[in-house]
This record gives sequence, structure tokens and C-alpha cells, in this order.
Amino acid sequence: MARLLIKNAKALLGTHSTGTLRVKGAAMAELPQVEDGWLLAEDGVITDLGPMSTWPGITDWNGLEVIDATDRFVLPGWCDPHTHTVFAAPREEEFVDKIKGMSYQDIAARGGGILNSARKLRDMDEDSLFASAKERLKVMMHQGTVAVEIKSGYGLTLDSELKMLRVVKRLKEALPLQIKATLLAAHALPPEFADDRDGYIRLITDTLIPQVAAEGLADFVDVFCETNYFTVAELERILVAGAKHGLPGKVHVNQFTSLGGIAAAVKQGALSVDHLEVMEPTDLEALQASETIPTLLPSCSFFLRIPYAPARALMDRGLAVALATDHNPGSTPSGNMNLVLSLACIQLRMLPEEAVNATTLNSAAAMGMQSELGSLTVGKRASFIITRPVPSLAYLPYAFGTDHIDTVIIDGRPVRSGEAL
Ligand code: NIG
Ligand code: FE
Repeated sequence: MARLLIKNAKALLGTHSTGTLRVKGAAMAELPQVEDGWLLAEDGVITDLGPMSTWPGITDWNGLEVIDATDRFVLPGWCDPHTHTVFAAPREEEFVDKIKGMSYQDIAARGGGILNSARKLRDMDEDSLFASAKERLKVMMHQGTVAVEIKSGYGLTLDSELKMLRVVKRLKEALPLQIKATLLAAHALPPEFADDRDGYIRLITDTLIPQVAAEGLADFVDVFCETNYFTVAELERILVAGAKHGLPGKVHVNQFTSLGGIAAAVKQGALSVDHLEVMEPTDLEALQASETIPTLLPSCSFFLRIPYAPARALMDRGLAVALATDHNPGSTPSGNMNLVLSLACIQLRMLPEEAVNATTLNSAAAMGMQSELGSLTVGKRASFIITRPVPSLAYLPYAFGTDHIDTVIIDGRPVRSGEAL
């Protein structure tokens, strides 16, 4: 049996109790911790933890790996519940065009953006897509990410959407981090269907969703509900079809315009509504008292120079805010959750404790993984970060752009360990 013991941790952070599966509103400011702590993992699962004053009476030291975490924090690994990490090529030429003054929408209008990525992805074979996504995910694991959701949406044909989801399936088998897959065929209207929107929606609802569900290729369904992309009525049709096949919704809404997609997604029982940079009072009302998780993507706002989502207003309404990177070649070419943590504190005015809850427990919940990840709790996966020596929790988001991570453990095994500075 593989066993790992962490001792002398400055504190174990995020030691939520077994029944706490997400934290809402004011409770987000509470990040339970055990100071001067130890933690035992056996066969990849946390089996016990406590303060050093309750040091476990271990009799069998055989095969027990011990890590001394003096002056270091141990915290749950990052859960990133919104990414587009499988893509064919970066789009830095559009980045330069944006510097010169073009907007995301200007670039899309001239055939760039998502359609640019789709053209390239259709031409790329499965093995090359797999290899490049694997390298990106390795970087993300090195940066502390232990679970990630990955969307399709750069295929926009039956074959290419399936190709993307098959790549995600292979990534799950090849890498230690947990991966959830989302069908985002409704990411942009493909040129072949320019005069037949209804035909494309039917391809999604009548062919893709049933096939993907039958083959177990996706866990969720997504729609980019936005001016010039997909309407609220189309979002509803896709979420209804997804629900019929056991695929809950995780949707892109309110990035540039408020169309009423949030109310529709809540009504259809969506697991999460993501982006929310542009929020009307009616959107906040629609979310209030729902179980749908608002997932905010501050590194997308940073990169596109668009407004930041109103995190405080969402927390004031008692909601369980989650955070994600949105890693993709167009609006967020970064899968770094440490940057998201800093931007959440600096730009969304979230407290460090709120931001850690939103990047761990609530973000695990935003991909249905709250029972196995997101906190240091007995019975959960032993997937966590050990920091370098840092003075406080607040120092992590405060000293932005600096790598504070010493060790990353996934399922009890190091994927990065303690290289000297
Ligand atoms: O979440 N907004 C839609 N989708 C992505 C961007 C996709 C792209 O530009 O390639 C997003 O920002
Ligand atoms: Fe996205």
C-alpha cells in the first residue's frame, strides 16, 4: 500500500468537514484550517489528519514516504472547471491585432476567432492534438491543477467534435489529473450551416448529444449564448436535449451581452453559468436561490480588457462562486490558476479565503467533483499543493506572478517535487 505522511505543515488549509460540498455567500470567507498539521494519505486517499499535538501512533513505517512541510502550507490542489485546452494552434497574431485596436468581436467578424481555431483543428490529426494538449496539461499540473474540465467546440462538425472528445478521453487515460469532458458543439455557427441554423442545432440535439452520451465521451453540454453566436431559445433546446441524455449544462453566458441566458440556464437546471462579465439586475435575480454555480474567469477579462464579473454582488446574494482559467487560444492563453487566484483578489475583490474556496471546493462542485476533491477531508483524493515557505495565506495571491509552489501531489503521488530555488 502506497503511503504518504506530511508533517509539521505551517497549516493544512481547506479542511472542510465531510458534509461540506460547496460554500456559499458569507461562508466563503471561512477557510477552515489545522495549524501545525500532519496528514496521512494511503492508496491515494486522505485517511487521517490533525494537529501535530495529535501525531498519529504509526507503528508500521515500512514504505511510508514522509514529507516535512515546516514553514509551508498544504492546500487542496486547484480545480479548473472551464477550459478549452485541446486546440490546434495559438492565435498570437490576433493578440497583436487587439493591441492595435481591434476587439474580440471585430476579429470574429472577419472570420478569425473561434472559426480560425476550427479551420486549424479540422486539419490536425488526433495524435498531434493529443500531444500538444498533453504538454499544456503537464504545465497546468506543475502549476498546481489537479482536476480540469475540457470542452470541445473547435471542431464544429460531427467528426471533428468527436475527434476532440476522443482526444480528451485519451488525455484522461494518459495523465494523473482528473478530467471532465464537455460537448461545446454550439460554440460558433460553422460556415457550412450559415444559412441553416436550425439544421446545425438539430445536428447537435439529434445526433451529437445522443452519440456522445452513448459512448460516454462527455459529462456536460455547453452553449456559447451570445450576440452573433447562439440565442437563448437555441441554448434551451440544447440544454433540454443534454438533460434527456444525462448531460447537465455548463454554459457560456453574459460575456459581452445580457440576453437572458442565465434565467434560461437556471430553469433548465444547469450546473454552472460561466463568464458573467455583463450582468443586469434580472440576471442576478435569476441566479439567486438557485443551485447553479456562477463560474468567473478573471484572466479572460484581463486578457480581453473587458469588465470583470461582479463577484461581490454574487456572494452578497448567497451564491457559491467558483473560479476557472478559461484556458483557450483566443481569450485566455493561460491555464495558470495561481494567476486566477491573484486576479480574483485584485480585480474581483475577493478575500484570499474566498478565492481559495472558489478555486478548490466550489470549482470542484462546478464540475461535479465535490465529493472527491476540493478540500483536505478524510476520504477525498490526496491531491494537494505544498507551498514554498511563505508568511501567510494572503501572501499567495498578493505576491502575484511568483511561483509559490514547492510540491504538487495527485492521488498521493508527486507530480512535481521540491526543486531547490
Ligand atoms: O470562453 N467565449 C467563447 N469561448 C471562449 C473563447 C474561444 C476562442 O476565442 O477561441 C471563451 O472566452
Ligand atoms: Fe470558455
